[in-house]
Amino acid sequence: MSLDAPARQSFDLRWDRYAPQIAVCLARLFPDRAYEVTERLYAILESAIEQRSAELRRLDEERLLLPDWLQQPDMVGYVCYANRFAGDLQGVKNHVDYLHGLGVRYLHIMPFLKPRPGANDGGYAVADYRMIRPELGTMDDLEELTAELRANDISLVMDLVINHVAREHEWAARARAGETRYRDYFLMYPDRSVPDAYERTLPEIFPDFAPGNFTWDDEAGAWVWTTFNDYQWDLNWANPDVLCEFVDLMCWLANKGVEVFRLDAIAFIWKRMGTNCQNQPEVHDLTQIMRACMRIAAPAVAFKAEAIVSPEDLMAYLGTGEHYGLVSDMAYHNELMVQLWNCMATADAKMAEVALANMPVKPPSTTWATYVRGHDDIGWAISDADAAAVGVDGYEHRRFLSDFYSGQYKTSFARGLVFQDNPLTGDRRISGSAASLAGLEKALDEGDEHGVDMAIARILLMYTLICGYGGVPVIYMGDELGLLNDMDYARDPAHADDNRWAHRPFMDWDLVERVRNGEDLPATRLDRAIRHALQVRATVPQLHASVASEVVPSPDPRILILKREHPLGPLIELYNMSEQRVDLHHSVLTQHLGYTARELIGGYDYDLRPATIGIWPYQAAWFIAS
Ligand code: GLC
Repeated sequence: MSLDAPARQSFDLRWDRYAPQIAVCLARLFPDRAYEVTERLYAILESAIEQRSAELRRLDEERLLLPDWLQQPDMVGYVCYANRFAGDLQGVKNHVDYLHGLGVRYLHIMPFLKPRPGANDGGYAVADYRMIRPELGTMDDLEELTAELRANDISLVMDLVINHVAREHEWAARARAGETRYRDYFLMYPDRSVPDAYERTLPEIFPDFAPGNFTWDDEAGAWVWTTFNDYQWDLNWANPDVLCEFVDLMCWLANKGVEVFRLDAIAFIWKRMGTNCQNQPEVHDLTQIMRACMRIAAPAVAFKAEAIVSPEDLMAYLGTGEHYGLVSDMAYHNELMVQLWNCMATADAKMAEVALANMPVKPPSTTWATYVRGHDDIGWAISDADAAAVGVDGYEHRRFLSDFYSGQYKTSFARGLVFQDNPLTGDRRISGSAASLAGLEKALDEGDEHGVDMAIARILLMYTLICGYGGVPVIYMGDELGLLNDMDYARDPAHADDNRWAHRPFMDWDLVERVRNGEDLPATRLDRAIRHALQVRATVPQLHASVASEVVPSPDPRILILKREHPLGPLIELYNMSEQRVDLHHSVLTQHLGYTARELIGGYDYDLRPATIGIWPYQAAWFIAS
């Protein structure tokens, strides 16, 4: 396909705009090969734009005119497994109306590229990046699905697994066969000396089922770097050929209609002896090059960093220093998620207040993915400093949270499962669905009506908070219906030793139907209230992600107070983390809003002249001046 003159001009302008960034980063990363790599990247991008459909090029122009598209208050995310949600990609296409009805604008379908056979870490061991998992359909199905999604204003988000490929991937096979070019795509060592030197400072990600970070491979005759499972071979990003491969792949997938790449395990891609081999500065140079390339060849595309790292390290993924605003557009707010569950277990918001107040400020052009649950386990990433600030021992508190959410703690309402108990570090992560962790499973089993009410209230509180924090609230499939742990997961031998499958259930379409019919069920209450929160959110300009949420010190430890300053006036959000009604002095609101306010979730006007204002158990309230 040849480009018409305006399309050519637009491409050339974008190249001129971003090529200097690419040059600076390449010169730092690969000084000897910078020129050659620039030429290769140019060829890849030029061929990609030529192949890009007129419709997608139009979307590019739209996005160039609306660079804050991901930051809008009506952006709502949803994440699901295609097969568990609707059988296959065609099935997802047939259920787009459900997503559209919920208000979804951003759909993350869990790994759908062809994985290795057998165990594949939920699809994160990709054997072929240019093929769809055969049970899910074909590349044509993907293109049809993305077209249908676009017609419904929904962007497709996909996992781009960049840290590793499956042992069965062609590159790995050719490396095993002895091709030097492909051996250089991986990190292979003839004996233990180098691996041992690295191991001294490397943590273990899956100590239970994949101890250590290197795997001996007989065929390769080498120790292969495998951070995750032994069948996931880490790529050598210090080799610019790997960068060129991934830019080419991204262009190709973007031309199939993918709009957001979730950069999987991005923190791990650059290795450095003597460190934990995470968050190395080169990661950000690489991301900046890839993002610049996408801005040139497919500007409709955005990046989401999957960096589940400490807040100090996290901000670099959204851009600090010279990368400010030039790397990923979005990142997971893991801290918020962990603090939400911490608040639910303790009925106390003080630690969340400290932790959120200590978060560095993100670049205003970026956004968060805010979430209650995802497909992974929850690691209790509570820092010793944040714990100490509220007079608690960090180690003990993390143990308490594991005990609480695995149901071992005496007053626990949760039904979670321990994932990867590491006695050496004390790290004990937790699996379980939002509803089971929030107490719905236990309360239903025990026929405890009050318990059911409280569990629903907790889920809604957390979901309303992720709607109000600023960022894209991402609904984890089934949470809108309160789906419980799926303990049948262990029947599948490929999943039996990985209890994260307990919280990756199948969609319950019968339940959806019953909810639609208005049956009196927990699911109906959750579904209605979550839809309502999303609808309200879409109308609140203060929730644009360029505005930062500030934590306001609360006079009562049970209440978390957030403030979002905006030219239209501030939004003050109150969240009661406890089962008690809390009366607050009216100054918490009047100092910001004056004496008349509107509460947006309930839709009531408040006269704030009386001295106290009452906040109901687990109430979430968003106030503006009226
Ligand atoms: C990411 C995924 C996780 C997977 C890992 C390795 O952290 O979320 O599910 O196990 O990457 O690819």
